[in-house]
Amino acid sequence: MRRVLVLNGPNLNLLGRRDPEMYGSSTLSDIETTLSALGAERGVQIGFAQSNHEGELVDRLQEASGAYDGVIFNPGAFTHYSYALRDAVSAVDVPVVEVHLSNIAAREEFRRKSVIVAECAGQISGFGPRSYALGLDALMGILEEE
Ligand code: DQA
Repeated sequence: MRRVLVLNGPNLNLLGRRDPEMYGSSTLSDIETTLSALGAERGVQIGFAQSNHEGELVDRLQEASGAYDGVIFNPGAFTHYSYALRDAVSAVDVPVVEVHLSNIAAREEFRRKSVIVAECAGQISGFGPRSYALGLDALMGILEEE
């Protein structure tokens, strides 16, 4: 059975309460429940992790090698400036799909650039919680082609 890690960065534990006009009313737990169900339908076991700390996200990415076949990663604000996370994504030997709830290309200037995406298989941005489901679909496509 394929294994996929869904990794979320800072402040994503506050989903549902945090700026609902931007990020919607679903909580992280709602998103995880939906993804678990989608994973079950597709025969994928999904693991979840969230951290507000850059180093812990680096640890989770390093541990993904060997433990998971791919990663769906929302790095939160670290997207825009964390070279440590970029290097961790580059070092991990499984595909990583970057996802965002909001359309980062349509937001403040500082959010328009991801320093991480160049090391990812690709990026899905702007579809709310559905970005994660689309990320899973993209990742499954990559894994099925392998
Ligand atoms: C986000 C976009 C980031 O700019 C922001 O800092 C977040 C959430 C998104 O999912 O839209 O925390 O990654």
